[in-house]
Amino acid sequence: MAKLGVFDLAVRYGKLLAVKDVSFAVAEGERLFVSGPNGAGKSSLLGAICGAVRAAHGRVEMDGDILSGRAPEDIARRGLSMVPEGRRIFAGLTVRENLMIGTGQRRDRAAVADDLETVYNAFPILRERAHANAGALSGGQQQMLAISRALMTNPKLMLVDEPSLGLAPKVVDEVYERLCALQALRGLTLVIVEQSSTRAARVGGRMLLMRGGKVVADGDAAAFAAGDLLAEAYFGDPS
Ligand SMILES: Nc1ncnc2c1ncn2[C@@H]1O[C@H](COP(=O)(O)OP(=O)(O)OP(=O)(O)O)[C@@H](O)[C@H]1O
Ligand SMILES: [Mg+2]
Repeated sequence: MAKLGVFDLAVRYGKLLAVKDVSFAVAEGERLFVSGPNGAGKSSLLGAICGAVRAAHGRVEMDGDILSGRAPEDIARRGLSMVPEGRRIFAGLTVRENLMIGTGQRRDRAAVADDLETVYNAFPILRERAHANAGALSGGQQQMLAISRALMTNPKLMLVDEPSLGLAPKVVDEVYERLCALQALRGLTLVIVEQSSTRAARVGGRMLLMRGGKVVADGDAAAFAAGDLLAEAYFGDPS
C-alpha cells in the first residue's frame, strides 16, 4: 500500500497544455477513478505520474518519496506500476514471457514465483494459456494479462488506463471483479481511468472528473453516477 500526492502537475505538448496544475492525494489502499471526456488529459496525467511523460512542472510523491524527475524504471522499482491504455502486451511472446518481462530487476526470485502463482490463481485463463502467444488471447484476456504483468513488478500503487476499452460489459465485470480482489489481497492503492461513471459507481470508489486538463470535480463515484456532481462539472465554468 502506498499513498500518492500530486502537486500542481502540468503536462505540455508544444503549445498545448494537456494537464493544468492538477493536485490531489490518494490514500493508502484507496481506489480512485479518473473520468472525463476524450482529450481531457487523463492518460497524460497518468503518464506524468509514472514518469512516461515529462511534466512541465509540479511534483509527484509516493509515501513522501519524490518521484518527479526520476526515470520510469526507477519509479517502477520504487513500487509504482502502470497498465497503459491499449494494453501494449507483446503479441509475439507467450503469456508467461509477458508476465516475466517486468521481473528482470527483482532479486527476490522466490517471491516472483509466488506472485506468478497469485496472478495465475486470480486469472486461471493465464495459467491455461501460459505457453500460447499473447496475441492469440481475446481482448479481455489481454487486459487481464496487462494487469497481471504490472502486478509482477510487486507494486504498492498501480495506475490502470482504461481497462474497459473495447470490452463487452460482461468481460468488464470480470476484469473489475478480479482487479478488486487483487487489490484487497495485495493491499494495493489503485488509480483507474474509467470513462463510465456508472461503471465506477458500480465498482465503488472515489472519482475525479477531468475536463480540459483540469480536475473539475472530486467525490464518491456513486454521487457522479447519480448526476449530482456531473451537472456541476459539465455546466460549470472550467476556467
Ligand atoms: N504525445 C502527444 N503529443 C501531442 N499532443 C498530445 C500527445 N498526447 C496527448 N496529446 C493531446 O493532449 C490532450 C490530452 O490527451 P490525453 O491522451 O491525455 O487525454 P485522455 O483524457 O486520455 O483522452 P482519451 O479519453 O481519448 O484517452 C489531447 O488534446 C491530446 O490530443
Ligand atoms: Mg487516454
